[in-house]
Amino acid sequence: MLNIKENQQQEFSEELLKKFAEIVSRYPEGKQKSALLPLMHLVQAERGWMSTESMDQIAAYLNLEPIEVYEVATFYTMFHLQPVGKYVLDVCKTGPCCLVGAEDLMRHIEDTLGVKAGEVTDDGLFTWRKVECIAACGGGPVLQIGPEYTYYENLTKEKVDALINELRTKANKS
Ligand code: FES
Repeated sequence: MLNIKENQQQEFSEELLKKFAEIVSRYPEGKQKSALLPLMHLVQAERGWMSTESMDQIAAYLNLEPIEVYEVATFYTMFHLQPVGKYVLDVCKTGPCCLVGAEDLMRHIEDTLGVKAGEVTDDGLFTWRKVECIAACGGGPVLQIGPEYTYYENLTKEKVDALINELRTKANKS
């Protein structure tokens, strides 16, 4: 049986706890560790990033050692270990994309947004990051935009500018 402590139930939203329970119920008794990744995604979606406190809470919920959650969070670049902007632009920095202009594109994004990789723009809208191959090598230079992880391929500086403007407009409307 899961041993969910009272204070952790209060710290996670009711909606989140319901989703947790549904996901954990998919696995056999004693195998709740298998629910770790989906639970981490849910927590990050609600809180925006994966703090140590969040990881500790997830570990307690699933009866895991905190290190078991830290290991996963630090392995996958999809988990943000510090606060990020509303939109996260992950630009592929691997060889094939660099051969077709990814480095120029990253410099352009840095100049356009006015922040270095991993930082958040003053308006809280953007973070951009350099990531390893995102498996769209034939469409380089390529980036994906989180939290939905939508892919944009065959990028140029003009296309990136249009994309950033589009996201700004979208954010202003919401
Ligand atoms: Fe860029 Fe694979 S090298 S997506």
